[in-house]
Amino acid sequence: MGKQFRVLQVGCGGISNSWLTALTGREDVIIAGLVDLHKNHAQDKKDKFNLSCPIYTDFEVAIEEIKPDLVIDNTIPEIHHRVVTTALNAGCHVFGEKPLADSIEHALDMVKTSATTNKSYAVMQNRRFLKDIRSFQSIIANQQIGALGFLGASFYIEAHFGGFRDLMDSPLILDMAIHTFDQARFISGCDPVSVYCHEFNPPGSWYKGNASAVCIFEMTNDVVFEYNGSWCAKGSVTSWECDWRAMGSTGAAGWDGKSLPWYETNSDPNNRFPSDYDKHVVDIKSNAATGHAGCIEDMMNALIKGVPAQTDCKDNIKSLAMVMAAIKSSQEQRKVYLHELIDLS
Ligand SMILES: NC(=O)c1ccc[n+]([C@@H]2O[C@H](COP(=O)([O-])OP(=O)(O)OC[C@H]3O[C@@H](n4cnc5c(N)ncnc54)[C@H](O)[C@@H]3O)[C@@H](O)[C@H]2O)c1
Repeated sequence: MGKQFRVLQVGCGGISNSWLTALTGREDVIIAGLVDLHKNHAQDKKDKFNLSCPIYTDFEVAIEEIKPDLVIDNTIPEIHHRVVTTALNAGCHVFGEKPLADSIEHALDMVKTSATTNKSYAVMQNRRFLKDIRSFQSIIANQQIGALGFLGASFYIEAHFGGFRDLMDSPLILDMAIHTFDQARFISGCDPVSVYCHEFNPPGSWYKGNASAVCIFEMTNDVVFEYNGSWCAKGSVTSWECDWRAMGSTGAAGWDGKSLPWYETNSDPNNRFPSDYDKHVVDIKSNAATGHAGCIEDMMNALIKGVPAQTDCKDNIKSLAMVMAAIKSSQEQRKVYLHELIDLS
């Protein structure tokens, strides 16, 4: 058997179930400790996953005593900077939940700390690792619709969360759009250049802040990515993965986030307004792990090989910057260039 990584799990709330399910199923991982501010949260996970490790309420004490190889950060966004920089400076690698950080300033400091300590910080983007998104991405990557010119994503959900999201200024963009923006980078293979974002709170909304938004991103390779979404849709809802449309130089592709993606090509050249195309449904038929387990598999493989994971912080900061630039654009009512926030070189 290869190396076994001693893992410290920090934050034992809702999402830690997905992490611990994947991690406890791996032979290259030993859960060496659990941390949560609320001791009963850590104890619940210890019992649920039948673990024999110690539990802590202070992550700094736990890192000092356990000396883990790898820290899992499943705390809330405001705490990510403290957990990640403490762990990196203590010589640990870190895998953390999205978002990378709660601000661009914190994100830049975390990327810098990862570089100076020569330790990995990789961020969970589970929606990149769904089987059907990989089929959709393969249509674009294999140029089955030619050169990509436009990518559109619609996100309409009627979400009655209650709690903090109902009171946030930008619940849709700040809390959810990171998933879609990161998906758009994955699908298109392009990086963001600029954004114009208009946030609004439509009639009937039960949110205090702006629960709907439209964004136009200019991407590299002259691709335009358009996002429109709402947390307060009263019908005609989409999947949580979005409803996608891609336009290429020789065809079009779509994915509703629920069924297999498809593309259409070859219209009748003699018809001035064609409506019949050859339709192809695409299924990459992969047995690879999906969702959280798939992203963790990629992170672990990268760690073992000593290469950056697909969602390494140095790359993932571009997805976070799309969120922060969209909010800046909405607040300042102007087009914002990503280079105003981060160095894209
Ligand atoms: N990838 C996804 O699909 C997905 C889904 C949900 C949440 N998330 C992300 O996961 C993270 C956690 O979300 P959640 O839904 O599990 O939240 P949660 O509130 O259920 O859990 C967070 C836990 O962290 C603990 N915690 C807070 N501060 C701490 C500290 N200083 N030290 C130790 N423990 C601390 C809390 O006590 C709580 O048990 C967030 O960043 C969130 O955005 C991702």
